[in-house]
Amino acid sequence: MALDQKDGIWKSGKGKGRRTPKGRQLDDAAWAEVRALLGDGPFPRDMLIEYLHLIQDRYGCLSAAHLRALAEEMRLSQAEVYEVATFYAHFDVVKEGEAPPPALTIRICESLSCEMAGAQALKQALSDGLDPAQVRVLRAPCMGRCETAPALHLGHRFIDNATMDKVQAAIAAGHTHPVIPDYQGLDAYRAEGGYATLLDLRDSGDWETVQDRVAASGLRGLGGAGFPSGKKWGFVRAAPGPRLMAVNGDEGEPGTFKDRWHLERAPHLFLEGMLIAAWAVEAERVYIYMRDEYPEIISLLRDELHALEAAGIIAPGYVDLRRGAGAYICGEESAMIESIEGKRGIPRHRPPFVAQKGIFDRPTLVHNVETLIWVTKVLREGPEVLNGVEHNGRKGLRNYSVSGRVARPGVYLLPAGSTIRDIIDAAGGMAVGHTFKAYQPGGPSSGLLPASIDDVPLDFDTLQAYGTFIGSAAVVVLSQSDSARGAALNMLEFFADESCGQCTPCRVGCEKAVTLMQADHWDENLLTDLCEVMVDASICGLGQAAPNPIKSVLTHFKDEV
Ligand SMILES: Cc1cc2nc3c(=O)[nH]c(=O)nc-3n(C[C@H](O)[C@H](O)[C@H](O)COP(=O)(O)O)c2cc1C
Ligand code: SF4
Ligand code: FES
Repeated sequence: MALDQKDGIWKSGKGKGRRTPKGRQLDDAAWAEVRALLGDGPFPRDMLIEYLHLIQDRYGCLSAAHLRALAEEMRLSQAEVYEVATFYAHFDVVKEGEAPPPALTIRICESLSCEMAGAQALKQALSDGLDPAQVRVLRAPCMGRCETAPALHLGHRFIDNATMDKVQAAIAAGHTHPVIPDYQGLDAYRAEGGYATLLDLRDSGDWETVQDRVAASGLRGLGGAGFPSGKKWGFVRAAPGPRLMAVNGDEGEPGTFKDRWHLERAPHLFLEGMLIAAWAVEAERVYIYMRDEYPEIISLLRDELHALEAAGIIAPGYVDLRRGAGAYICGEESAMIESIEGKRGIPRHRPPFVAQKGIFDRPTLVHNVETLIWVTKVLREGPEVLNGVEHNGRKGLRNYSVSGRVARPGVYLLPAGSTIRDIIDAAGGMAVGHTFKAYQPGGPSSGLLPASIDDVPLDFDTLQAYGTFIGSAAVVVLSQSDSARGAALNMLEFFADESCGQCTPCRVGCEKAVTLMQADHWDENLLTDLCEVMVDASICGLGQAAPNPIKSVLTHFKDEV
């Protein structure tokens, strides 16, 4: 029954009876629609984002009436539902009297590699050439498809090396759904020995021996921070259980696409590593947080998790696959945990660290997708698979995501001691007509280096002397056709869009920096001051690293500003 009372018991003032409670009233039809979508309860609080996806997918937006109904169904305040719905870019909140978005949405990537490949001109052509009543064209950050720039999503379908013709043809054919890649399934994986390591360990393994092997390999976190993986397991184990695990599949750092690359080929290499790590820390449950930009991956992982359940390798429901909703900051591990709990992705203050208090305040092991692929390989092939490779005095291997002005953009597995010259060679050299000018070594958080610094191994700990770091090994190569200041501006625009807004130095600093960087001449003193405040006073890595592109242009490309 709707909360409609006849006797005026809700009072708004002395003697004044109200027929309804304050605020937006429950609409019976919208409530019935939400109930039909959600099914029978219970409706745990942490599933809020999943329920918002259900409504957005079914109705193309989140109407105020549906949000009100969802709040009712979940016994949450409207404010709570609304603040979460409006935090994420992939939800369209539509209030009473506002027009819903058109049936089809194109999100065109405007991050660096796509911008270099002509995203702006394509966006203009799409906006001019398509009927806005039928299709809306939105700008979007990197969608992890940089090797086929310019990239866009038409509905849920990715269009590589996008052109107006390709988009029109796909619209005419109604091709707006994800295309599932041809990947190695469970049977094929098991046929070549897959899951034998996991099953052996579960049968008679000793987690400390496993931890030692991982540590001996030199494996470090490949989400960007480079924390030694074996050590992390020890921290999580040191905290009293019950423990949980979360996989970071957010892959939002522009230029990074290695996780997607591997998942769409051999997802079980990752899943086995995940289950080994979960076994090692005795995780009671595992959450996979996968970015919404990868609908094909979400679909194939769902299928393969069902296959693992059917094969008795995991208990039903042991792995909970969660879908992000378009927020780069949810790659930061504590923001990801907030999002898994169904909240806005706002980074937490530390300590306590997530290894001690993570999801639902339980000790939580967080790993990047690629880190877990290496766990499988190290335990199957021995630590030598990593520590047996040496190049330029560095040990190990690295999957570099390479895009920009190279002949063959893609993911390249190379020694971790590779220099930018090695990487460009692996990618087929420079693209025809392009001369090497500069590069982004590890995502926009790492800024830019000039072509003259071409003999440094692109590894953990080798780039600090140059004011940068390898991060997620997202290498973007720039040529004489590109401006370093333009690239830095693109990076700061990204950070300004993606700042969660929690702390002033980052929220205001990123926007202010964008304004200052748009001037013909950069105000170096002011920008330097701003960078200092952002680095010193931002809570998380986004605000602390956002000044790097500015600093690198002021150091290496001063003539441009
Ligand atoms: C702003 C920001 C964004 C991040 N984005 C990602 C991401 O998309 N994927 C990821 O695995 N790690 C990301 N990280 C790093 C995670 O916080 C965390 O260190 C990592 O998931 C831990 O896994 P690992 O030890 O296997 O690398 C990000 C960190 C920051 C500060
Ligand atoms: S530094 Fe930026 S992204 Fe990080 S918590 Fe502060 S406002 Fe949010
Ligand atoms: S997909 Fe456009 S920069 Fe990555």
